[in-house]
Amino acid sequence: MQIFKFMVPEIIFGKGTLRLIGESARRLGATKVFMVSDEGVARAGWIDQAVQHLKDVGLEYQVWTEPTPNPKDYEVEHGKELYLEGGCDAIIGLGGGSAIDAAKAVAILATNGGKIQDYEGVDKIEKPLPPLICVATTAGAGGEVTQFTIVVDSKRKVKMTIGSKSLVPDIAIIDPLLLSTIDAVLTANTGMDALTHAIEAYVSVAATPITDVLAYRAIQMISSSLRASVASRTNMEAKISMAMASLLAGIAMSNAILGAVHAMAHPLGGLLNLPHGEANAILLPHVMRFNLIACTERYAEIAQAMGEKVEGLSTREAAEKAIEAVERLCSDIGAKRHLSEFGLQEEHIWELSRVAAEDVSLITNPRDATVEQIAEIYRAAL
Ligand SMILES: [Fe+2]
Repeated sequence: MQIFKFMVPEIIFGKGTLRLIGESARRLGATKVFMVSDEGVARAGWIDQAVQHLKDVGLEYQVWTEPTPNPKDYEVEHGKELYLEGGCDAIIGLGGGSAIDAAKAVAILATNGGKIQDYEGVDKIEKPLPPLICVATTAGAGGEVTQFTIVVDSKRKVKMTIGSKSLVPDIAIIDPLLLSTIDAVLTANTGMDALTHAIEAYVSVAATPITDVLAYRAIQMISSSLRASVASRTNMEAKISMAMASLLAGIAMSNAILGAVHAMAHPLGGLLNLPHGEANAILLPHVMRFNLIACTERYAEIAQAMGEKVEGLSTREAAEKAIEAVERLCSDIGAKRHLSEFGLQEEHIWELSRVAAEDVSLITNPRDATVEQIAEIYRAAL
């Protein structure tokens, strides 16, 4: 058995648990909270509710909604200035992947100083972060439970991955009610992000028996509830199932890490600002086809988890069923299928492939990939 460690925050799960945000912050010793969120979350009314819960327990607060999708270095540096000027002593990330990534990046800079680029890579954070609570408003990104944050270097146009045990939040709150204000497109995209986390974690070279059970169950739950969650904002059973599946997939990928889909999606976000979930959904079947020879048995298991009939099939045939099942899910939920729909052209492919080949997520991909092979996968997804 390989040596591994397993990291997870305190998790509070369930309908209506947003109301525990105030007492959670107090428990961590907060007196003035810096809340990182975005305009969409504000419009949905969740910031007002969260702020009320902070007021109820006598906490001061400052709300910051500047971060954009794929948060940028200059945004998080501005956030850090506001945090320090405001005399805050704890951070809450309330949002989807971008707001939570921005909250974590502000937390790094608040106590460690310097530029966010200084922390690119693994284990570069030396000083403890302020108390950090993350509340997910989407079911997919997983940042509320992971040891990672991703920030765009605006000069290099590269998504930097920062990994450290310090980035595991102190408390993660997952309230499925928050999913009821998300439209079908975002539900589909974030759901495909969660499925990608689960599949990449399941076939990762760093997978462990602990991450396997989490990833496998996440694949089962997403396969059986994502369609229903996309179909209706008010199907609370589907929302609860997706919230749990996203949580399981997030913990699995935080500990087993990712693979070529994320390595290739990151430069699409950095260079072309493509939404993360959409990039994953397009790339996932193509990367699965590339990885097939490295993890045929695992794909056959994924086919079973996705509800495919595999009796009587060879392992190879069953593995191919997993790829077909992913494609059918993408098509049922209306996910985009071609990178050209986002303006990607042949001329972009070499630069994207060069950056993807250097992405840390590639290290745990089950099949080694050269720049040329990565370029072929992008080309197939055009
Ligand atoms: Fe992701």
